[in-house]
Amino acid sequence: MKSWKTVIIPALTIAQLTSALDNGVGLKPHMGWSSWNVAQCNAASAKYALATADKFISLGLKDLGYEYINIDDCWSTKSRDSAGRLVPDPAKWPNGIKAVTDKIHSMGLKFGLYGCAGDKTCAGYPGNEGHEKSDVAQLVSWGVDFWKYDNCYTPCRQSPRPQTCTSPAGSTKTWYAPMRDAILGVQNTKKLHFNLCNWGRDEVWTWGATYGHSWRMSVDNWGDWASVERIGSAAASIHQYSGPGGFNDLDMLYLGSSKLNTNQEKLHFGLWAITKSPLVLGLDLDKISNSTLTIIRNKGLIDINQDPLGKAATTFRPPGSAAPVNGKIYPYWAGPLSDGVVVGLCAGTSAGTYSVNFKDVPGLGGSGSYEWREMYTGQTGKGTSVSFSIGLHDMRVIKVIKETKMEM
Ligand code: GAL
Repeated sequence: MKSWKTVIIPALTIAQLTSALDNGVGLKPHMGWSSWNVAQCNAASAKYALATADKFISLGLKDLGYEYINIDDCWSTKSRDSAGRLVPDPAKWPNGIKAVTDKIHSMGLKFGLYGCAGDKTCAGYPGNEGHEKSDVAQLVSWGVDFWKYDNCYTPCRQSPRPQTCTSPAGSTKTWYAPMRDAILGVQNTKKLHFNLCNWGRDEVWTWGATYGHSWRMSVDNWGDWASVERIGSAAASIHQYSGPGGFNDLDMLYLGSSKLNTNQEKLHFGLWAITKSPLVLGLDLDKISNSTLTIIRNKGLIDINQDPLGKAATTFRPPGSAAPVNGKIYPYWAGPLSDGVVVGLCAGTSAGTYSVNFKDVPGLGGSGSYEWREMYTGQTGKGTSVSFSIGLHDMRVIKVIKETKMEM
């Protein structure tokens, strides 16, 4: 199905189409929490949503910018009602969804739900295919702010459709368009954030901004170091597609699970922050350790992620450094900020001393002295270079600015 704009005004340029969902939403990477990695289907409940909202306040997360409480797969009953409507599972939502969104809104937070472009969600609950308009109307009536849209049980050459199709019958664009159009159709009453979750298929980063506000660029983060390497390294080559209103989504922050050690958690959070990924916590805030809490509350890193320029960092190669290795985290990263440059140093493959001369950093120009601040250690300095001894899988994130301008 074509978007209404393509049909009605075929002469529209790509530039005009890229503003299709330019509705003031998603100008910065979204921040929040998602139920999925907490307890999968069991966490898709009012109880978890409200408990997490309380934690956002009591742990100071709301003040740092964490905003969305997102409920993932399994929130509805297994079938629609006789009028074709989705039904919130009464065991999980005893007072319905609206009571929860009202409460969450009253706390100054936002609420997200999950759907799927196929005829079933990935966990086998009703999908939205063929019901896009009426389902969006229902979301609006509940006050939902955010809509994650998955890619299971979609049109496929295999029959019956498998959960995850390996031979799709067309581009994912085809089945994401009707939902995008339904969301466009309610712009005047509700500005939904549309999060595409097609797992990076069909190079979604090249068209995601014309369909939604953020797009998953990979298959899931499984919570292990291999996932951080796989996803983090892949973010480098697609950095240019992220910008205000449309960001590469590197998937949820899988911290606090015991699969990553503290160094790995720091690199995970730091790399997601500088590549301008949404920062969505995939963990149970009731069980969070002080060490993980310190990482997710790092205001300097959050400020870098939320910088209004919205440009993602990517790798750069200082003179004499080895070439990037596919699937491994490269040591040297940099990206522009509205008031400077962020440099990331990642000990992704070996512990050691990592140094950069500022003259070699893209965006810092050839000469001059700079002021810098490192976000994990709090160290500050002035000069023409930085050098850190970094433990295996740890990271340093350095904000650099022309001398005398730094606001610390
Ligand atoms: C996957 C998706 C996950 C989660 C899960 C729910 O396809 O990538 O983030 O939403 O489905 O079943």
